[in-house]
Amino acid sequence: MINIVGHKGAAGYAPENTLPSFQMAIAIGCDRAELDVRSTKDGQIIVFHDDEVSRLTNGVGLVSEMTLSEIKKLDYEQGEKIPTLQEVIDVCKNKIDLQIELKTNGTPELVNNIVLKNDIQDQVVITSFQDYLLKEIKQLNPNLKVGLLFKTDEVMSEIWNLMESIPLDFFAPYSGLVTKEFVDKAHSFEKSVYAYQVNKKELGDKLNEMGVDDIGTDFPKLFIKE
Ligand code: G3P
Ligand code: CA
Repeated sequence: MINIVGHKGAAGYAPENTLPSFQMAIAIGCDRAELDVRSTKDGQIIVFHDDEVSRLTNGVGLVSEMTLSEIKKLDYEQGEKIPTLQEVIDVCKNKIDLQIELKTNGTPELVNNIVLKNDIQDQVVITSFQDYLLKEIKQLNPNLKVGLLFKTDEVMSEIWNLMESIPLDFFAPYSGLVTKEFVDKAHSFEKSVYAYQVNKKELGDKLNEMGVDDIGTDFPKLFIKE
């Protein structure tokens, strides 16, 4: 059975990367919840997608130039607050696995420390579009499973070379790039395939037929019936 990963919690039904979104992913029965992490000016890990806060909150400014207490003053339109990684773990631990996407430099060490402190390394996988961040966290903690996100044919054709320099556990392509040949080749190297942005049932079914292991979706109810 293909695993269903709720993107940014369950972003199609609740404000992305907020505690209600993760509670929704748990209630629906997702196999994992995906989330994005960044570090604040004072070295705290928060769960937030953008480098700048204005698309999603009532504030303006770069996350990297704001302290956690400044971040906590911001509100989503729906009144939600930007959560810390610890707050998301408190909601999700032993209820749903997490797929943590490293967005910025400085996150590997801080995220690894939080994962170890909470004793959840077997409930977590790590992704990033930045191969060097995956390399860094894997060096810090070889037990963590890491997957490289990518959205171009160029990276897709290079990935077989890349996996010699970075110990990747899985590949994480944009869904539109995936072919059965790619999935078969990944499996022949014992790498699993997570395809992201799967927001249509037909696309999910097609990827399932190709043998894709995990799909990321904003709308997990398309794939998990009550
Ligand atoms: O899981 C993949 C997906 O989250 C990557 O893109 O921009 O939504 O973080 P983005
Ligand atoms: Ca993400």
